[in-house]
Amino acid sequence: PFTLSYMSTPQLTVRSTPCWGEAPMWSSTESEQENREAMLDHIGIAPSILSADMAKLGEEIDSIKTADYVHFDVMDGEFVPQLSFGHPVLKAVKKMTDVPIDVHLMVENPDETVASYLEAGANIVTFHVEAATHAHRIIQQIHTAQALAGVALNPGTSIYELDSLVDCADVILVMTVDPGFGGQSYLPSSADKIKAVRELCRKHHANPTIEVDGGINNDTAATVARAGARLLVAGSGVFKCPDRAKAIRQLKDAARLGLSEQA
Ligand code: DX5
Ligand code: ZN
Repeated sequence: PFTLSYMSTPQLTVRSTPCWGEAPMWSSTESEQENREAMLDHIGIAPSILSADMAKLGEEIDSIKTADYVHFDVMDGEFVPQLSFGHPVLKAVKKMTDVPIDVHLMVENPDETVASYLEAGANIVTFHVEAATHAHRIIQQIHTAQALAGVALNPGTSIYELDSLVDCADVILVMTVDPGFGGQSYLPSSADKIKAVRELCRKHHANPTIEVDGGINNDTAATVARAGARLLVAGSGVFKCPDRAKAIRQLKDAARLGLSEQA
């Protein structure tokens, strides 16, 4: 299964949630180094339930049980124009599935709200660098709760905002649309940005997983994977298809094809 733990920071040794349960821990022996490099090409798919039918959320969650993560979009009506759902719904979703949950906080005050999502059982919590007051403290708080920490970047935000964060974040979420709505078109400038983030990480000898979110379909999946993304969020790309398992498989295949064409 897709897992992030092999890419996590070396100082993180205590892991217990399903997303990293069976994965090798960080280590520097040669064979494990090779193993980790092989695993770098793993692609994860995280369907965004923002595009699901809320009137039958249980069935919708069940239809994506082959996914690597369930992507849970929290929107507060301030950081982005719309409202979505919050930690009480996350608690309910945790009861519906064993698939780990990837929480994307599109909120003005992640410093204050992160705790309730950790308590509700989030496996990855990603907050926006544009909204955080004390980003390092939020990351520490997430790690203390044994979850993985993600830092998200809007399309208009410079990658240099990540300069002091790539060393400690497990995930860098490169938004490939302006956040706030499902069903928007992928921004073509995103591929260069993903490559630039990868280069920045390389300079820091850091290896966070690059996640992308917005307008991901069978065409754009190949492009983002080739650029360096390994965890792909897809809302309409999964939920508009009646056969969700097939949609997830096709996205993964498309991304892998993109990887195999990598220069
Ligand atoms: C919107 C959310 C996304 C959204 C993606 O900003 O963060 O996760 O649900 O939807 P699609 O894949 O339809 O662009
Ligand atoms: Zn999202």
